[in-house]
Amino acid sequence: MAKQKTKILVIDDDPKVAWILSEGLSNKFEFVSARDGMTGLQMVSTEKPDLILLDIKMPGMNGIEVLEKLNKSNERPEVIMVSGHGDTNYVVESIKLGAAEFVNKPFDVQEIEIHINGVLERSRLKREVHELKGELESKSVYADFIGDSDAMHRVKELIEQVADSELTVLIRGESGTGKEIVARSLHQLSSRKKQSFIKVNCAAIPRDLLEAELFGYEKGAFTGAHKTKQGRFELAHKGTMFLDEIGDMPLELQSKLLQVLEQQEFVRVGGIHTINVDTRIICATNRNLEDAIAKQEFRDDLFYRLNEITLALPPLRQRPEDIPLLTNFFIEKYNRLYEKQFDRMSAQAIERLTSFAWPGNVRQLENMIKQVVVRNDENIVGELLSAAGTRPMPHGSVAGTQPGAATTHEDPLPADNYSLKERIGRLVAREEKRIIGEVLGKTNWNRRKAAEMLEISYRSLLYKIKDYNLNATD
Ligand SMILES: Nc1ncnc2c1ncn2[C@@H]1O[C@H](COP(=O)(O)OP(=O)(O)OP(=O)(O)O)[C@@H](O)[C@H]1O
Ligand SMILES: [Mg+2]
Repeated sequence: MAKQKTKILVIDDDPKVAWILSEGLSNKFEFVSARDGMTGLQMVSTEKPDLILLDIKMPGMNGIEVLEKLNKSNERPEVIMVSGHGDTNYVVESIKLGAAEFVNKPFDVQEIEIHINGVLERSRLKREVHELKGELESKSVYADFIGDSDAMHRVKELIEQVADSELTVLIRGESGTGKEIVARSLHQLSSRKKQSFIKVNCAAIPRDLLEAELFGYEKGAFTGAHKTKQGRFELAHKGTMFLDEIGDMPLELQSKLLQVLEQQEFVRVGGIHTINVDTRIICATNRNLEDAIAKQEFRDDLFYRLNEITLALPPLRQRPEDIPLLTNFFIEKYNRLYEKQFDRMSAQAIERLTSFAWPGNVRQLENMIKQVVVRNDENIVGELLSAAGTRPMPHGSVAGTQPGAATTHEDPLPADNYSLKERIGRLVAREEKRIIGEVLGKTNWNRRKAAEMLEISYRSLLYKIKDYNLNATD
């Protein structure tokens, strides 16, 4: 197919200019022309030129005004200003307004051809850099979303299928399984990627502030509302709104959210005007929303509306084959971040990591690898796993904000400990320990047989026996 000629729009009240250019260069470029600024602006949208040659002095709207108007549109073609004698004062102004070049009248056709080619080449390079940057940006988060298990391949496939749609996605999964990475990936793989990604953690903002935070407020709406403030939904206009821990959204706000979903509109706190927003909503939760509905803590109509697509992230213990990959990824990440040279884990260390239950999922693994890299010693893996397996890690410890997995005794949690993550983590470990104990009992502590029945490797079983401190007298 023949390459289309570059289209150049000449805006000049003197028709000779377009004529001269056309005569001299029509074998190289296609010229269209306008004799005043207004017509020129209209032709920018109808003709979609690749470049504009813009005269400065024209009756009516002058070239500077045309350039100012052009700058208001999102993308405009490059502009070469053409000036007669005595227009030099405008040079600085047009450069400030982003004109690519400045040529004086009368001009030589060859000279103008050089300018045109120079500007086109620079704009092509600029576009390429821009596209590359966009590609890099969209790759950055998604490329760091690691997983080669079948389950993760299915998740990635679904992400790619629904990212660039307007469907509301509900991301479910235990804590630390990567819900936020998925939300960011959905945004970055969508055509909204250049607009804002706004995250609101519904559990982290006090109930009475959440409404104002999400929907904004008018001056005087409540004590302390000294001036009108935009809410996060307004900031997410044209972009993506990520409502994290949606299960914790108070009932009274759920109906307002439903209105945004159904009519793309809402009213600020204390306001009377309806505000329209165009935002894509993504939610995440590790709560069982069906239970919350049964307890009348969550509206079922909202649930169905949020749940146009569910993306369920499997816990790490259900995809142990991802553990070596993730481990290497985090080793590289923290080597780079902390300028360390930790080499890699031995096969034995990897096997221990692979057979652990990871109640805190990828986040817990990441925190553990971070410690190994910082201390540059893989021998601490056993120690860390035993610690994670026998007592809860304190929140905020270097090992992570995740609690430990198992407990050797059936010790109840302190009464004031309501951390869901910690409780679930302990339950998982307790159950694992119980099952292993039961099978070992059945097989009379024949460990090979027990490993077979449990469908885990013999070595994994040995580690688990050690991690859980199991012995034949239990
Ligand atoms: N598949 C993955 N590849 C690489 N890193 C991951 C992956 N999954 C999770 N992570 C990392 O683990 C940590 C926890 O992930 P994320 O914050 O997305 O979890 P979450 O599901 O939102 O957890 P929570 O429910 O506690 O908020 C982050 O540092 C994230 O980068
Ligand atoms: Mg999260």
